[in-house]
Amino acid sequence: MSKQFDVVVIGGGPGGYIAAIRAAQLGFQVACIDEWKNAAGGPAPGGTCTNVGCIPSKALLQSSEHFDHANHHFADHGISAMDVTMDVAKMLARKDNVVKQNNDGILYLLKKNKVTFFHGRGSFVKTTLAGHEINVAGKAEEVITGKHIIIATGSNARALPGTPFDEVNVLSNDGALQIGKVGGTVPKKLALIGSGVIGLEMGSVWRRLGAEVTILEGLPTFLGAVDEQIAKEAKKAFDKQGLKIELGVKVGDIVNGKKGVTVNYTNAKGEAVVLDADKLIISIGRVANTMGLNPEAIGLQLDERGAIVVDGDCKTNVAGVWAVGDVVRGPMLAHKAEEEGVAVAERIAGQHGHVNFNTIPWVIYTSPEIAWVGRTEQQLKADGVAYKAGTFPFLANGRARALGDTTGMVKFLADATTDEILGVHMVGPQVSELISEAVVAMEFKASAEDIARICHAHPSLSEATKEAALAVDKRTLNF
Ligand code: FAD
Ligand code: NAI
Repeated sequence: MSKQFDVVVIGGGPGGYIAAIRAAQLGFQVACIDEWKNAAGGPAPGGTCTNVGCIPSKALLQSSEHFDHANHHFADHGISAMDVTMDVAKMLARKDNVVKQNNDGILYLLKKNKVTFFHGRGSFVKTTLAGHEINVAGKAEEVITGKHIIIATGSNARALPGTPFDEVNVLSNDGALQIGKVGGTVPKKLALIGSGVIGLEMGSVWRRLGAEVTILEGLPTFLGAVDEQIAKEAKKAFDKQGLKIELGVKVGDIVNGKKGVTVNYTNAKGEAVVLDADKLIISIGRVANTMGLNPEAIGLQLDERGAIVVDGDCKTNVAGVWAVGDVVRGPMLAHKAEEEGVAVAERIAGQHGHVNFNTIPWVIYTSPEIAWVGRTEQQLKADGVAYKAGTFPFLANGRARALGDTTGMVKFLADATTDEILGVHMVGPQVSELISEAVVAMEFKASAEDIARICHAHPSLSEATKEAALAVDKRTLNF
């Protein structure tokens, strides 16, 4: 007789471990299976996000930003820092320690919430009257049964056909976070394919540390999903930092040699270009991961891209089987995965879990940071919505001046008739934190005037948010 659980979660990333905790809070007997191994072969829950995504990338962004400030901005404050050097090995060790703290924190949380953790790979065996049988292949092998299964198996980096990742020269996000592990040096020349979120964040890290960075982007527009005005402002800042971003390229042959990588491509003018680099990061999106899950055993439906097909409630085509996070449709973001995990646990408990896709924030942690929620100006135009726009530059914000970072702006888009906020777009210092106010406002269906009438602390960057809301009604006070 296999161990019986009310809920079995397959995958311990932000979608999975949060679903497991919420289900346990709701009184269910819960198991969570995750196969990620740390360097010693032990469990490392937290998924892509904790191990090779959100957390380690932000650790490296922070270290490289300190280095950049010491080199380029301390002098403005009267601080002289001579011969600033970067110990790459130490930076990577710090990052690994940040990851470990998060892994350990998640193991603690699972234990605290009485979730039974299994370290190994979960795969479907069959459906019985008692539920769905899952084989767990870890150090030992055992079968467990869940009345409800939540699949949260995440995603993997998409490779370019014919150019497999070797994580030595041709790197996915995994290798991109380990550059310098061997030899402790910063690559002289770094090439990236794809100027999306990973391309810009990882490109920024290594550019700040001194690499010559070239990002090759297939599309003719820069950050097409971002509000055009904001993307333009960000591009100006990246150009100034020496991030070389080539748009509208067609990548051809890639040769992975002993000394580095050669990328042959055609640029936007149709010219053939040969780019030599020490390392190549391929950041062209991610694909849903159902590897080893054996979905056929229960007749689970996948779409043509390999993602698990779910309805608006994250229900699959098999009764009692749910799926959340990167393995299903929608934005591949940790907080989206978490929200879906919570909602599914609550639906299993007969509650009305809800995820509002219109108010999921996006943040790109470059410098300047880029953050947005809701619709862009180009989307409103395409949708034929009459809107009013208001912008406020950080140049006119006292706190930004005191910080020494006045790049960028806050932009509000509000309905022309009702004044309801339809989108808020930001580029500038710490906008990853500022965007939350806009998310809350949109959740409560606030108008631009609501934000404009709320008292914001002075001096704070958040005053730029209030001023942009005032700008919708053409009555900024400080610009
Ligand atoms: P995952 O985090 O991928 O977790 C899936 C887990 O399931 C993994 O541990 C995997 O080992 C395990 N698993 C898979 N199959 C099985 C199986 N059969 N049995 C047992 N275990 C299995 N998002 C943000 O919101 N903010 C960011 O700043 C951010 N930065 C990122 C930076 C990088 C470099 C990358 C690559 C991604 C980043 N993301 C970020 C995206 C974010 O990491 C994902 O959206 C998020 O991790 C998805 O969560 P998930 O739970 O669906 O899947
Ligand atoms: P992405 O979808 O953000 O960007 C991929 C880019 O590659 C696009 O601009 C695309 O046009 C381009 N591209 C695709 N094929 C190409 C080709 N053959 N040649 C040249 N360019 C090509 O994907 P990315 O950067 O790999 O990140 C994956 C996902 O991970 C993100 O979409 C996001 O969901 C998540 N993520 C989130 C972060 C955050 O929230 N801060 C940070 C990093 C990743």
